[in-house]
Amino acid sequence: MINISLMGAGRIGKMHAEIISAHPDVNLQYVYDINKDNALQVAKQNNAEIVNSPEEAIMSDKIDAILIASATPTHTQFITMGAKSGKAVFCEKPIDLDIHKVNECMKEINEINIPLQIGFNRRFDNSHAKVQQARLKKEIGELEMLIITSRDPEPPGLEYLNAAGGFFRDTTIHDFDLSRFILGDDPIIQVTAFGENLFDENAKKADDFDTAMFILKSREGVLIHINNSRRAVYGYDQRVEAFGSKGMIISNNQTITSVESYTNKITSSKEPILHFFIERYTQAYKDQFNHFIECIKNNIKPSVTFEDGRNALIIANAAYESHKQKKTIEITYE
Ligand SMILES: NC(=O)c1ccc[n+]([C@@H]2O[C@H](COP(=O)([O-])OP(=O)(O)OC[C@H]3O[C@@H](n4cnc5c(N)ncnc54)[C@H](O)[C@@H]3O)[C@@H](O)[C@H]2O)c1
Repeated sequence: MINISLMGAGRIGKMHAEIISAHPDVNLQYVYDINKDNALQVAKQNNAEIVNSPEEAIMSDKIDAILIASATPTHTQFITMGAKSGKAVFCEKPIDLDIHKVNECMKEINEINIPLQIGFNRRFDNSHAKVQQARLKKEIGELEMLIITSRDPEPPGLEYLNAAGGFFRDTTIHDFDLSRFILGDDPIIQVTAFGENLFDENAKKADDFDTAMFILKSREGVLIHINNSRRAVYGYDQRVEAFGSKGMIISNNQTITSVESYTNKITSSKEPILHFFIERYTQAYKDQFNHFIECIKNNIKPSVTFEDGRNALIIANAAYESHKQKKTIEITYE
């Protein structure tokens, strides 16, 4: 049995607790959250114990692995503590919003050999993964364009916006990573970014965007377009299109069933698309955790690494620079 401590019992921590508890080879031992009510509720629902400090949760001899789902500014501290006490670490994206903290953490854990996985769950979505496989096997010939649409159903509250650290680093970071995943060993080298406040007063107050568009270019010349909105009235819009010399492959939106209705007013209407990330990426969240557990059992390096988390943040930082300077920015990864 692999014993896990969960750090953070908020929105995503609660979901991770359920996934951990449902795994036959894993036991959720401890839950730690500075908000005791959150910790208690999640621990109670999953037959776990609460602990009162990060040290108790992470450094206990009972613990084999930690899953970090606490607020972003806590991630590097918990990664370092986990790695130094020899625990396998799964950490939610982003590693941090500050590249200096990420670099510092990288130095601290550089020599330590533990499974460390970053929570870019979209890589584990069966449909998005098919697009990546098609690119790898050249099913669509040479990749020429990649188009990612990623729009949330509704904007978050002001409190979330003030804490999250900005649209590009908190949200688009998933799309930067997904682009990197599909491009494989062809790195992104340029970005041009636009961000706007078109409708959300809270985003305006938080000095953030509600709408964004990006053009990126890879070293081999693949052009990538990403568009994001914080409000798509028809649900969580998640589409990926790869276009190449021999065709196109699309990972489309998903509905609960595949039913289509035809009436005298409308043809081919479907049910609403799945509402938000927990519903849309259920399979991906489970499979990324299964991958983490397999890596622990077989002592192998997870497929989504610290470096992937760092590189996605570097692209997000370059995107902010592009927006600020109103020009295309060259990206380097040193
Ligand atoms: N991969 C995804 O799809 C996805 C989706 C949502 C959130 N996330 C990431 O997960 C993390 C948490 O997001 P959320 O939406 O669950 O936020 P949340 O605010 O709902 O939960 C965060 C929890 O962390 C706790 N916390 C804060 N400081 C802490 C500390 N020092 N020690 C222990 N716990 C602490 C808070 O009390 C809260 O319960 C963020 O990094 C976010 O970017 C990832």
